[in-house]
Amino acid sequence: MTSVQLRKEFLDFFEKKGHTIVPSSSLITDDLSVLFTTSGMQQFKPYYLGEKSPYGNRACSIQKCLRTSDIDEVGDESHLTFFEMLGNFSFNDYFKEEAICWAIEFLKEKCGIDEEKLWFTFFKGENDLLEDKESKDIFLRLGISEEKIFGFGKQENFWGPTGNEGPCGPTAEIHYDLTGKSCSLGKGCKPNCKCNRFIELWNLVFNEFYQNKKEELSHLKQKGIDTGLGLERLVAVMQNKSSVFETDLFESLGNSRILADHIRAIVFLAAEGIVPEKIGRGYILRRLLRKAIRENGEIIDLAKKVIEMYKDIYSELKAKETDILNIIQKEIQSFGKALEAGKKEYNKIKGDITGALVFELYSTHSIPLETTIAWAKEDKKEIKNIEDFYKLTKEHQEISRAGAEKKFGGLGKEAKSEEAIKLHTATHLLHSALRQILGNNVQQMGSDINSERLRFDFSFDRKLTVQEIKQIEDLVNQKIKQNLDVKCEQIKLEEAIKSGALSFFKEKYPDKVSVYSINDFSKEICAGPHSKTTGHLGDFKILKEKSSSAGIRRIKAILK
Ligand code: SER
Repeated sequence: MTSVQLRKEFLDFFEKKGHTIVPSSSLITDDLSVLFTTSGMQQFKPYYLGEKSPYGNRACSIQKCLRTSDIDEVGDESHLTFFEMLGNFSFNDYFKEEAICWAIEFLKEKCGIDEEKLWFTFFKGENDLLEDKESKDIFLRLGISEEKIFGFGKQENFWGPTGNEGPCGPTAEIHYDLTGKSCSLGKGCKPNCKCNRFIELWNLVFNEFYQNKKEELSHLKQKGIDTGLGLERLVAVMQNKSSVFETDLFESLGNSRILADHIRAIVFLAAEGIVPEKIGRGYILRRLLRKAIRENGEIIDLAKKVIEMYKDIYSELKAKETDILNIIQKEIQSFGKALEAGKKEYNKIKGDITGALVFELYSTHSIPLETTIAWAKEDKKEIKNIEDFYKLTKEHQEISRAGAEKKFGGLGKEAKSEEAIKLHTATHLLHSALRQILGNNVQQMGSDINSERLRFDFSFDRKLTVQEIKQIEDLVNQKIKQNLDVKCEQIKLEEAIKSGALSFFKEKYPDKVSVYSINDFSKEICAGPHSKTTGHLGDFKILKEKSSSAGIRRIKAILK
């Protein structure tokens, strides 16, 4: 089946089940807390909260989406920046039973997928949130064998909200078994395993909760369904391809996966009237464009192919064709000029190339880090103190991002529960472990702790490997098991810095500071509070490691 046929099959299927077909909304949303539309439910957010839907209470759509969080994964088999999401939605109408049955019916009957290949997950409950036994029972009633149904916690099977508040809830997911082979990482294999045996196809969200800005949940008055099925992934499965880039959606877009991905995103962003800029949405467009230009392909030709392929589905591409091509052409020129001017500046550098100089080139001539690295490589030079580049870029972005008043570094006032205190101590262990395993270039870029998890942002320029994540976890757990004392002393700021205590550049410290040390493993200037010893922290587990922004990684971790 072609991708064009599949889109039609999907909409026909749900129209027959009483859904109104709703066109994709713009990639730019009214929700100021997100840069782009990242899922099909975004345009329907108010209808989950009780506002009357103009489409009745069942809708289906094919939504254009853009996600920059996976940008470092682009180029593997299944991650894309721009993608289309097929979805069906219920606002206070049908719930779990129909959502699950119809999803399976569609995959089996319309897509011809062998049920043997499908595996299922449901929410197993976590903290105050109950297990979703109902979904599990529905799977069992449909005759699915229990060995192919797995419960997961919040991290995997709880979705939302988009932006900083909104509807959210437990999920059930349908995964596809790509290889049929058991795990290459040694253990028994199930969906979400890092061995890439499975691909997540369909996410069924049961919107039962509302999460407010403080991340507190309350029950919604009405129940809703929000499902999302990645078009490109489903096409890959149906066309028997091991990667989305081998499907008919990409066949005319050349051999560079990065270029093929980015050109689609570029065309769709430019069609929204976004132009390359130093900040915000325009910054994303510029970053994608410059990366694409560096891939050395026929960008204009490829853009024309994207427009040709999608113009009958998204009429704005046809209407904006000239603008889109102009935007790309202009950026090719301005990047060319910037490169010339930047190269001149670069050639003037006497002595070491430092992170601060790399930032200088970036901020005055928009020369991307990767380009300066490439120049330095040609000259067989190393870049010294690269962490300064990350520090300065982060500062620069913080300053440009008006009003985003998130507290960095210390533990926020509200979150001093016992759990949060333990997580705070674990954050110090993590920080040191990262530096020990990945090198001293790792710098703290941000930290956010609540009573359930820690989040730590740090400078590092690539995705961590599965082995590195394991080493980091092991090292932290080793320090926990050793039951080390956490000591605090009050000393002068200067002395603290001289003694090698880690500090956080975003924080304005008083003249006299507290320094927390955990044996000789960790030493940080910090306002506390901390656990007295490490022994009772529990088992440290990294849930997620991903890109947070250019050159900055984000780890979410818990104590079990
Ligand atoms: N909102 C969910 C997702 O994006 C399902 O559509 O995965």
